Amino acid sequence: MERLQKIIAKSGYASRRKAEELIKSGKVMVNGKIVTELGTKASFSDDILVEGKKIEKEEKEYYIFNKPRGVITSTKDEKGRCVVTDYFASNKRLYPVGRLDYDTTGLLIVTNDGELSNLITNPKNEIEKVYVAKLEGIIKGIEINKLKKGIVLDGIKCIPKRVKLKSYDKKSNSSIVEITITEGKNHEVKRLFEKVGFKVSKLKREKIAFLTLSNLQPGEYRKLNRKEVKHLFSLIK
Ligand code: URA
Repeated sequence: MERLQKIIAKSGYASRRKAEELIKSGKVMVNGKIVTELGTKASFSDDILVEGKKIEKEEKEYYIFNKPRGVITSTKDEKGRCVVTDYFASNKRLYPVGRLDYDTTGLLIVTNDGELSNLITNPKNEIEKVYVAKLEGIIKGIEINKLKKGIVLDGIKCIPKRVKLKSYDKKSNSSIVEITITEGKNHEVKRLFEKVGFKVSKLKREKIAFLTLSNLQPGEYRKLNRKEVKHLFSLIK
C-alpha cells in the first residue's frame, strides 16, 4: 500500500504535487468513493479514477539526451519554440530532469519517473554534475581558489566539488574550465563565474553521476539499461 498521490504519480497521470491538488479538489475516486485526504493509502489493485479516468501503472522509461543549443528544457513552450520532448517518439509522459539553459548543451536525463527525477535534483543526494565552461578572459589561480572556497548565491554558500582549469588561449582571450557541482540552482554555473568576474560564453554538461555522453551527438538520445537505472537509485542518501 502506498500514498494515493504516489500511486497517481507512478501512473504517469500527473506529478506528485499535481496529484495532491487533484485529491484535495475531490477529483479522485477510490473504489467508488471520493477521497480528499492526502495520507490515504491505496494500491494499483484498487479501482482508482482520476478526473473520471482509470489509472494503471505506467512502465518507466529512462533516457539520456544530448541537448543541442536553442532547445528549451521543458515539455511545451508557449512561444512554440523547440522543446526537449519534441525529440522523443515515446507515447509516455516524458519530461526532462532538472534544467539546462536555452543556450547550454549536453547531458540531460529524460524520464517519466518522478522518483528518479527527485533523486537527481534533490541536493541532499549530492549527485555530481560536471560542466565544461568556456569563459571570456583568462582565469587565474586566485579566481579558481575563490570558486573552490565557495560563493554565496541566493544567501547560501555554494562550494563546487571540483574546479579545474583545462586550458586557456591568449589569442582568443578565453579559458576552458571544468566545474563539478551538486546543487543545481538556476543558472548556477554562469552565476558562479560571474561572481568572480567572468562571463560564460559556452556551457556544456558532460556528466551526471557516472553517466557520460560518450558518442551521443547533439539531438541524439539513448535508453538507459537496467543496470544503469539500478545504479542511479543506489545513489539515494
Ligand atoms: N548552470 C548554468 O548556469 N546553466 C545551465 O544550463 C546549467 C547550469
